[in-house]
Amino acid sequence: MYTQTLLTSIAFVGAALAAPSRGHGHHSKAPNVTIKCPVVFDGRVPTGTAATFFDTSNALFNPDYVKGNNLKWSDILKFPSVDASRFDAGGYQAVEVTISDKSIFQQQNGFRRAGLQFIQDSPQGPGTNGVKTLHWSVKQDPQRALNLTHEYLNVWHEAADYSADQIQFQTGQIIGKSASDKNNFKILDRNGKSLYSVAMDMKNWQNFAVTLDYSKNQVTIYYSVNNDPLKAVKTGLSADLSGQGQFQLGILKKPTGTNDVVNSGYQEKNLNEGQIYGGLFVEDSANGCVSL
Ligand SMILES: *[C@@H]1O[C@H](CO)[C@@H](O)[C@H](O)[C@H]1NC(C)=O
Ligand SMILES: *[C@@H]1O[C@H](CO)[C@@H](O)[C@H](O)[C@H]1NC(C)=O
Repeated sequence: MYTQTLLTSIAFVGAALAAPSRGHGHHSKAPNVTIKCPVVFDGRVPTGTAATFFDTSNALFNPDYVKGNNLKWSDILKFPSVDASRFDAGGYQAVEVTISDKSIFQQQNGFRRAGLQFIQDSPQGPGTNGVKTLHWSVKQDPQRALNLTHEYLNVWHEAADYSADQIQFQTGQIIGKSASDKNNFKILDRNGKSLYSVAMDMKNWQNFAVTLDYSKNQVTIYYSVNNDPLKAVKTGLSADLSGQGQFQLGILKKPTGTNDVVNSGYQEKNLNEGQIYGGLFVEDSANGCVSL
């Protein structure tokens, strides 16, 4: 929900030309080949990439969406000096998505948000059919801690008509729900039903993957910590994945004290929050292939 992007593919032309080297001998350390299936969307950030790389057409993410109206990605993205996450080993680095008081997208004054979209993703594209697995790793930044009194939407797949998110990776206190699991990451279906939940780890990398079987409307969830191989923690759950659309990865912080979360409510001032990401990619899981 909530994206209402007007046009997401403006930046596509020229993306291939701007492609950085992807580990073909330009890095001193050989890639640790943990990805074994065909990569459909690649959001892994090559080591040494400058923040300004994301301000204009580039091979990884949409430069125009989804962010504060007067911000550039180079204002939003940081590159913390943390160990590479499991699927970033061999030439890729962590990227932190931050939000501030300026993180107001369009007229959405209730939210503070910044979300990355894979440049090749499109509302009717390859991320919306067959069997695909989205991978992401997260790490917490003690300098930019999230305020878990609020509801956060961090990673999701949003239907093409923006009416729902088929899968939602969240943290904090979900509005209208108990605060008892506010310190947990939660994976919810489009109706807010919990599919998986695990405590946020304030020190280590947490690796997640979700296999979306669009024809069977089934979801399988994988999880591990640091460099441990992913393990299936939920298998073949039923979930309505219809409606096509796009992935988004970042932070969408909802306000408190309102029924109209898009437009109103409370957000504290002088916000400086971040979520560190690594190992962002979507692979083709036809024939059951999943990189663990
Ligand atoms: C590659 O990853 C595996 C675990 O997934 C690890 O045991 C191995 O040491 C890694 N190799 C390199 C060269 O980093
Ligand atoms: C966290 O959010 C709540 C609700 O908006 C606010 O009252 C509180 O001051 C915030 N805490 C911090 C540390 O910013």
